[in-house]
Amino acid sequence: MVARPGPSSQRTVSSSNQGQALGPIVDRMTALSGAAVGQLLAGIGFDLAEVGPIFEEYAETNRVSDRVRFEPGDFFTQALPRVDVITMGHILHDWDLKNKKMLVSKARAPEFKAWMNA
Ligand SMILES: C[S@@+](CC[C@H](N)C(=O)[O-])C[C@H]1O[C@@H](n2cnc3c(N)ncnc32)[C@H](O)[C@@H]1O
Repeated sequence: MVARPGPSSQRTVSSSNQGQALGPIVDRMTALSGAAVGQLLAGIGFDLAEVGPIFEEYAETNRVSDRVRFEPGDFFTQALPRVDVITMGHILHDWDLKNKKMLVSKARAPEFKAWMNA
């Protein structure tokens, strides 16, 4: 991950998980809650609008609502949120080769510093 420029005490590394559902961003933030680096991270869960309430409840339960937020969207028709690091967990396997390539090319656009696929 690459931090945005700025005083080290104010750096924020933002990460967005595409097709968020319940888990990844909230779980990573929860795991890092006790670490100093955890306080420097901010995350976005990007998923279809109907997932929003579930995401927000899960973030609240895990006490990371101050560091994650939900952004409704459709990765077929919209740009991905502007962040430092894009993650995709269990997304590509759902789609055919043409759509896989489209999603990977969106995630590897120059404005993102890193892309992680799991
Ligand atoms: C298999 S789940 C993976 C969830 C999560 N990334 C994980 O690793 O547990 C696929 C996710 O993609 C989301 N999804 C499906 N179509 C989408 C679209 N067009 N735009 C954004 N998210 C989408 C679904 O709502 C679902 O949350």
